[in-house]
Amino acid sequence: MCGIVGYVGSKSVAQVLLGGLARLEYRGYDSAGIAVIENGELNVVRRVGKLANLVNALEASPAEGVTGIGHTRWATHGRPSEGNAHPHADCSGRIAVVHNGIIENYIELRTELTTTGHVLSSETDTEVIAHLVESYYAGDLVEATSKAVARLEGSYALGVLHRDHPGEIVAARKDSPLIVGKGEGENIVASDIPAVLEYTREVIPLHDGQIALVSADAVRIFDEDGSEVAESETEIMHVEWDLEAAEKGGYEDFMLKEIYEQPKAIRETLRGRFVDGQVQLSELVMSEEEALALSRVFIIACGTSYHAGIVAKTLIEQWARMPVEVQVSSEFRYSDPIIDDETLVVAITQSGETADTLAGVREARERGAKVIAITNVVGSRVTREADGVLYTHAGPEIGVAATKTFTAQIAALTVLALKLAQVKGTLDDERTRYLWDEICVIPAAIETIFAEAPAIERCADEYYNSASMLFIGRGMGVPVAMEGALKLKEISYIHAEAYPAGEMKHGPIALITEESPVVAVTIQGHTYEKVVSNIQEVRARGAQVIAIATAGDADIKPHAEHVLPIPATPESLSAIPASVPLQLLAYYIAKKRDCNVDQPRNLAKSVTVE
Ligand code: F6R
Repeated sequence: MCGIVGYVGSKSVAQVLLGGLARLEYRGYDSAGIAVIENGELNVVRRVGKLANLVNALEASPAEGVTGIGHTRWATHGRPSEGNAHPHADCSGRIAVVHNGIIENYIELRTELTTTGHVLSSETDTEVIAHLVESYYAGDLVEATSKAVARLEGSYALGVLHRDHPGEIVAARKDSPLIVGKGEGENIVASDIPAVLEYTREVIPLHDGQIALVSADAVRIFDEDGSEVAESETEIMHVEWDLEAAEKGGYEDFMLKEIYEQPKAIRETLRGRFVDGQVQLSELVMSEEEALALSRVFIIACGTSYHAGIVAKTLIEQWARMPVEVQVSSEFRYSDPIIDDETLVVAITQSGETADTLAGVREARERGAKVIAITNVVGSRVTREADGVLYTHAGPEIGVAATKTFTAQIAALTVLALKLAQVKGTLDDERTRYLWDEICVIPAAIETIFAEAPAIERCADEYYNSASMLFIGRGMGVPVAMEGALKLKEISYIHAEAYPAGEMKHGPIALITEESPVVAVTIQGHTYEKVVSNIQEVRARGAQVIAIATAGDADIKPHAEHVLPIPATPESLSAIPASVPLQLLAYYIAKKRDCNVDQPRNLAKSVTVE
């Protein structure tokens, strides 16, 4: 949902901005631009399309300077065009603004500004901010920005530059992420951590309503009421990731690298969670008595995180015998949900910034529920809104399609389910230990699946021209199928649908032809024979079948054109290994269709708008 970056220091500002934007491009990639202060004037360069177009423009006509701001856009208001690309300037051309978020009252502000003589030239909501700052400016850029943001309704992360303040950037945020990386004689403002890692691992997360005045040697932070936050009270976080973690490291794409990082991500997420037979989960932030009093669980999430939530529903219901409801956050927030102080709400969001999930968290807390967030991003918004935070330790995920964060979420949710079962006394010690031991071998199981990559690629060779694919499964196979279909459609643009296998004959089987392959999650378990019957039904209608099956299962062979094996795992723990071949299948199919797997069309990594 747009990436912003700002730099003050002695390095070549354009190079720093372009480097930062490259690491933020996953947030949006329909146009990009920078503004630098050059010889006392603002130099704004913008290009429609990928960042490479801006890079080419700046190679042809370099921009020099020591202070600048940059932006990579995911269009909300106004189509992707050079005129709508950021930075946006005021009438005088002295002020430039980059923005991530949505200004909900921009039409009203635009009318007010044009009535008072301002000339706005884009179709964006952002441009009003540059003109508001212009109208309030009387020599103090922080004051003008503060007055401007007080007029805004909606969400924003902003970088503001003024020709007459050559060594300064003003940054502000509300409901959109923004950090300041603290360097030596240089500081860098950015939407996300990977953009600052080349310069520093010390990061100040700005809080909602705060404004920062950033110069090369200082970062001054002001609260919403204008009071300055004392330096000693400024929260500085040390980021554990290094730059290498945010780079491709020899892989062709981030997505492939991230698929291969899953064993590590899961090991890190599980580390230290089981000591002397006890599940360790202080993040639950409640006493054993309070936990015992919980009567139900409500899970909210979007997209891939929602699929992790469906996996968790089965685990919690089976192990802790508590009823669990799972809802997509955008529905939950408007559904007048039935929750109370006996409900545990689990908000799953890898980015920690998804607008609908954040709204759901607020809604749940207002209704008295305790909220535990599961996120991958330290210091993200959800970490400040939830009662407790359970981190996945997957490292930065740059590919837009979630892979390692999905399986790490399932690992974290597995810990949560075991903890609830332990509190409720619904699993005996022996069973808990057995499950824990089985969970711990999943990373090694994934490594054996990687050995199947050539076979998966050959399978992709046969089907990459399909117009449509169906994914079916039962039990744990349902969320696996849903996630497999989502991965395929978002990166290859092949139409894909997922159904519980038993539902096929209630309608979707009408879609089956020889041209629509079916991916069947057929892992060993209590519904194995049922899925095999469903496979026979689709094959009888001409479908070719790709089966995800337990290694060594000879019975499945006559029923499928391709069998992609996964190591034997208890059925309840099969979602992680079963998802990996489907990630690779989607990846290889998309590559054969020449798709950009890291930056699929129309998508952005973190959805900070409703
Ligand atoms: C799909 C994908 C999205 C996200 C969804 C929620 O590959 O990445 O469906 O899962 O936008 O994002 P988070 O988890 O950041 O709330």
